[in-house]
Amino acid sequence: GKMGYAMAKAACRRGAKVVLISGPTSLDSPRGVEVVRVRTAKEMEEAVLQYFAAASIIIKAAAVSDYKPVEVLEQKMKKGDKNLMLELCGTPDILKRLGGIKGGRILVGFAAETENVVENAETKLKEKNLDLIVTNDVSMPDSGFGTDTNRVTLIFRDGRREPLPLMSKDELADVILDKVIGIKR
Ligand code: C5P
Repeated sequence: GKMGYAMAKAACRRGAKVVLISGPTSLDSPRGVEVVRVRTAKEMEEAVLQYFAAASIIIKAAAVSDYKPVEVLEQKMKKGDKNLMLELCGTPDILKRLGGIKGGRILVGFAAETENVVENAETKLKEKNLDLIVTNDVSMPDSGFGTDTNRVTLIFRDGRREPLPLMSKDELADVILDKVIGIKR
């Protein structure tokens, strides 16, 4: 979404060769960035793995759906008069997979939380073998999905926590890149 596009634009402005792997969105493709459009988590996983070997920094801002329907119908489903149960199964955790094969690459994740924000994000940083996780409380009105601003806490691999003030997603993208550059591999 907006945060991923802001990251891609900021990195491109700094002269990085950027590949933006994007799920469905109405945002315009940033100029100077190679955009790969995908629809499902599986397609995103395949695209990410394809570009992974050549990448030195991977920033995963995509809000990937954690579940998908087990069954997908060809035709419109007719309504019945009973309650409807949908069976969902998990999607691949792309970032976790990358964490297992990261080598010398820098991996940055995002975590959208509504409770125990910092603690949950720290667990994710460890589970997914990240260098940095950008954490926000999505229950706040000025932070998270669809907004142009974000209020986040950065959490580093060495345990350092850095709460940042409210700022635009464009400004935040630059702050994140400054921090990424400072990470020792
Ligand atoms: O576990 P959770 O979904 O909260 O973790 C968020 C981070 O993991 C984000 O960086 C997101 O892009 C990534 N993720 C992923 N594949 C998924 C779910 C999340 O890469 N299926």
